[in-house]
Amino acid sequence: MSCLGFHCHKSLLMIIFLAFLGLISFPAEAAIKKYQFDVQVKNVSRLCHAKPIVTVNGRFPGPTIYVREGDRVQVNVTNHVKYNLSIHWHGLKQYRNGWADGPAYITQCPIQSGNSYTYDFNVTGQRGTLWWHAHILWLRATVYGAIVILPKPGTPFPFPQPAREFEILLGEWWNNDVEEVEKQGFKMGLPPNMSDAHTINGKPGPLFPCSEKHTYAIEVEQGKSYLLRIINAALNDELFFAIAGHNLTVVEVDAVYTKPFTTQSILIGPGQTTNVLVQANKVPGRYFMATRTFMDAPIPVDNKTATAILQYKGIPNTVLPSLPQLPAGNNSDFALNYNKKLKSLNSAKYPANVPLKVDRNLFYTIGLGKNSCPTCVNGTRLLASLNNVSFVMPQTALLQAHYFNIKGVFRTDFPERPSTPFNYTGVPLTANLGTSTGTRVGKIAFNSTVELVLQDTNLLTVESHPFHLHGYNFFVVGTGVGNFDPAKDPTKYNLVDPVERNTVGVPTGGWTAIRFRADNPGVWFMHCHLELHTGWGLKTAFVVEDGEGEDQSILPPPKDLPTC
Ligand SMILES: *[C@@H]1O[C@H](CO)[C@@H](O)[C@H](O)[C@H]1NC(C)=O
Ligand SMILES: *[C@@H]1O[C@H](CO)[C@@H](O)[C@H](O)[C@H]1NC(C)=O
Ligand SMILES: *[C@@H]1O[C@H](CO)[C@@H](O)[C@H](O)[C@H]1NC(C)=O
Ligand SMILES: *[C@@H]1O[C@H](CO)[C@@H](O)[C@H](O)[C@H]1NC(C)=O
Ligand SMILES: *[C@@H]1O[C@H](CO)[C@@H](O)[C@H](O)[C@H]1NC(C)=O
Ligand SMILES: *[C@@H]1O[C@H](CO)[C@@H](O)[C@H](O)[C@H]1NC(C)=O
Ligand SMILES: *[C@@H]1O[C@H](CO)[C@@H](O)[C@H](O)[C@H]1NC(C)=O
Ligand SMILES: *[C@@H]1O[C@H](CO)[C@@H](O)[C@H](O)[C@H]1NC(C)=O
Ligand SMILES: *[C@@H]1O[C@H](CO)[C@@H](O)[C@H](O)[C@H]1NC(C)=O
Ligand SMILES: *[C@@H]1O[C@H](CO)[C@@H](O)[C@H](O)[C@H]1NC(C)=O
Ligand SMILES: *[C@@H]1O[C@H](CO)[C@@H](O)[C@H](O)[C@H]1NC(C)=O
Ligand SMILES: *[C@@H]1O[C@H](CO)[C@@H](O)[C@H](O)[C@H]1NC(C)=O
Repeated sequence: MSCLGFHCHKSLLMIIFLAFLGLISFPAEAAIKKYQFDVQVKNVSRLCHAKPIVTVNGRFPGPTIYVREGDRVQVNVTNHVKYNLSIHWHGLKQYRNGWADGPAYITQCPIQSGNSYTYDFNVTGQRGTLWWHAHILWLRATVYGAIVILPKPGTPFPFPQPAREFEILLGEWWNNDVEEVEKQGFKMGLPPNMSDAHTINGKPGPLFPCSEKHTYAIEVEQGKSYLLRIINAALNDELFFAIAGHNLTVVEVDAVYTKPFTTQSILIGPGQTTNVLVQANKVPGRYFMATRTFMDAPIPVDNKTATAILQYKGIPNTVLPSLPQLPAGNNSDFALNYNKKLKSLNSAKYPANVPLKVDRNLFYTIGLGKNSCPTCVNGTRLLASLNNVSFVMPQTALLQAHYFNIKGVFRTDFPERPSTPFNYTGVPLTANLGTSTGTRVGKIAFNSTVELVLQDTNLLTVESHPFHLHGYNFFVVGTGVGNFDPAKDPTKYNLVDPVERNTVGVPTGGWTAIRFRADNPGVWFMHCHLELHTGWGLKTAFVVEDGEGEDQSILPPPKDLPTC
């Protein structure tokens, strides 16, 4: 050993110094990050109303999971409330490990009152902002938090290093008990009451009564740049977000780096995340951040504006902030143009591996419908479907049924295309609003490439739908307004640098084409991330079969997996 005495110390110090600068990196020992999530009731007051809400560790929003790429995460979730529940780690790929994905009755039975379950997963090949939320009933209204995945030690961001970063969680608030609201809607067969406010980090801001204490604020220093990790945790609203006087440079969505572009407002659907850089380069003062709903169909929504404050250091709280101009609530053009600007970074280090050859072509229509319901207000119940199948929740989790080969829980004959094609976005549309129901899923061979076109329809009404796929990211290769044209539209696909994400908005009266390689065996939920529509059956799952290889099959279930 030559490492003795002073010289050794000096070179060791030099190595430590270089490592500190990020100039060299060690094959980092993957850390195990452990969290305790106590799901418990907490009395919280907003908009002059106090009420008990379901929280994690009494916090609203819940705690941030803060990890590095490569880490192992173990979250012991203990249920102290009266509801069955489960938690989803939204956007984490969970390779071979659907047991830790979380949607109740899809990958696991819920954690019942008084019980615990440890979600144990590795964060592999992903870095950026994701989030976690309850995945049963409407509990995610208050049970949600951020997941921040830093790059591996020594790996910088592919954009200028910000002075600081902030998590910005956009949400919705109901003055009444959200489970009562949901139940009432279901009983009536109608949409439940819309929310009473939007929130930024759980706070509605000073445009609402009793909100002086309930305003989120960040402090910035003139000349510095900041990274905002923005998450749409709202149940039912796609949202615009902007900061008065300040542009936003989008650098990442859904934990995938993008080609940077600058915009005055972003559009973010429920389930999506967007990282933006903000330069504090304005006259020092106080500026509102604001968020409000995007809705370009004739459907009533909560269109109230939540605000938070960006405050320059040294500016007193008495200075009145100015409001940003958000796009008009129904501005479809903004939405289409904004989504067009999103492109994968597609660099040597972060390539966009878009499947060029497609093994399976799927075409799913999104429809709303009405079925008979004698006890409902109108004698009918509203529901929603993909290819005219409204998904019925099973009583055994699909992943268990698949893994243990339990028969009779689901069928694998989900239609690959509509059985009776029609003019999907025609006006007026005279198609029958009756909808079929069933627990039907699609079966996909391991490592095959899938193209799925999601087509909105005018059944009852056209509307924009944010679709989320579990277990995968996908590439958004094309999108358009009207009916998808299988002859012409694919020639216009972007197969070079399409945006890669886990949740995508299908435009109102339009279509979106996504591609992914089915290299993650398991049962993966796919659903509209508007909770209202998930509840109405706008969901299905893919059963991705095991591969032949040793490391290409579903891992054995953990010992503490909840049972039904
Ligand atoms: C919640 O707090 C409010 C105000 O402090 C109080 O009036 C109410 O009784 C509390 N509710 C519960 C369930 O503790
Ligand atoms: C999870 O937390 C509960 C409640 O604190 C505890 O009883 C249980 O032992 C924990 N489980 C593990 C695996 O640590
Ligand atoms: C996570 O990684 C560790 C260390 O490589 C491994 O022991 C463990 O089985 C992995 N867990 C999952 C769920 O893949
Ligand atoms: C829904 O709104 C109606 C009308 O404002 C109100 O009467 C009803 O109590 C609300 N329901 C719930 C569960 O909050
Ligand atoms: C914001 O961007 C617009 C157009 O991209 C530009 O005209 C404007 O000067 C920018 N404003 C700031 C404050 O950088
Ligand atoms: C907001 O919604 C309410 C109720 O649906 C409606 O009356 C109002 O016109 C809407 N405001 C805007 C700016 O769209
Ligand atoms: C958007 O809403 C405004 C009123 O808020 C209305 O004047 C305008 O016609 C609407 N635009 C579209 C495209 O529907
Ligand atoms: C239900 O009935 C009410 C009046 O009772 C009517 O205004 C509403 O349009 C109906 N809704 C649906 C979805 O049928
Ligand atoms: C579909 O409906 C649209 C809008 O009503 C109409 O313009 C179009 O011609 C229809 N297409 C076909 C093939 O009938
Ligand atoms: C959907 O299925 C129902 C029930 O089988 C049927 O009545 C209806 O015509 C179908 N609708 C479409 C658009 O295929
Ligand atoms: C999946 O298929 C691709 C293309 O044929 C191949 O390069 C890759 O190694 C396969 N992956 C696995 C896990 O088998
Ligand atoms: C909780 O889940 C179990 C297992 O699926 C089920 O038997 C029970 O009815 C559920 N309880 C409630 C309150 O939904």
